[in-house]
Amino acid sequence: MSKQRVSKASTDNESAARQRFLLLGLRFSILVVVSLFFAGFLLTSFAIKEWQPWFLSLFYVCISLILGRFFLPNRVWLTIAILFYPTYLIGKQWPLLALFSFFCLSVLTLLMGQAWRGRVPLFLTSRGMLSQLASLIPQGKVKIAELGSGTGSVVEAMCLANPEAMIDGYELAWIPRWISYCRFAKQPNIRILNQDFMMTDWSCYDVIYVFQSPLVMEAIWKKALTEMHANSILISNSFEVPGVTATQEFSIAGGRQNKLLMWKMGSYKDHIHGNRRQDKF
Ligand SMILES: C[S@@+](CC[C@H](N)C(=O)[O-])C[C@H]1O[C@@H](n2cnc3c(N)ncnc32)[C@H](O)[C@@H]1O
Repeated sequence: MSKQRVSKASTDNESAARQRFLLLGLRFSILVVVSLFFAGFLLTSFAIKEWQPWFLSLFYVCISLILGRFFLPNRVWLTIAILFYPTYLIGKQWPLLALFSFFCLSVLTLLMGQAWRGRVPLFLTSRGMLSQLASLIPQGKVKIAELGSGTGSVVEAMCLANPEAMIDGYELAWIPRWISYCRFAKQPNIRILNQDFMMTDWSCYDVIYVFQSPLVMEAIWKKALTEMHANSILISNSFEVPGVTATQEFSIAGGRQNKLLMWKMGSYKDHIHGNRRQDKF
């Protein structure tokens, strides 16, 4: 078996293990939050009925805070744990408010989808960034992937920059994915895929564009280095790869998305495997 196949298999194993670990963590956090909810429920129902509601709430918040700090992974889960039972009490008192909150939660879930998986919510690439990105797209029959394609505005810009390119957008969140499906339904060179981009093979792509978060850049880099071919480029909106200098960096005026980074994979693969480099771009 070749060196590359072995390292690809180990990356697949790593990402499967990572998924399992995340899923386990998620289940455990849900279990802790639900247990705290029932503890609050039992507290109000049986044990100390005569306590003032404000004192009871304070007591519940303190207990959740103490246990949550031990058993929950971060502040987001801690906030959920603290607010869960009080929110239920408010909902019981004012059912319309509860319905409204439920509606907001459903819309958020559809919009952000499985943000917990990639730890990245939906926010869109800026216009300034789009025009700089378009200038980096090579011409001809190249294959491009966008990791987390959102509502498809980047896919559209890349398609305009090179109408001959075959473009795959990977997106897990429901509403953005459906917007993209409708947007590109009649576009034969564009596919919107309901897949976790970390679980797919990147070896066929000449260009990969990513706008995710600093948290996932290291994993993306490892996968890109193993799977992307020597003639391909990786482009990141705003976020660097820790410890890896980009081949080129472009400053974008105004706003928070102020730099676009590009890595020519050949240079970095050379460094590792001692291969000969052929630059196409
Ligand atoms: C910051 S948004 C970027 C949207 C779009 N690329 C843009 O620049 O306008 C990141 C998107 O990646 C999606 N995402 C996060 N992790 C993902 C994963 N593992 N697989 C597929 N999509 C993912 C999220 O649902 C979100 O829509």
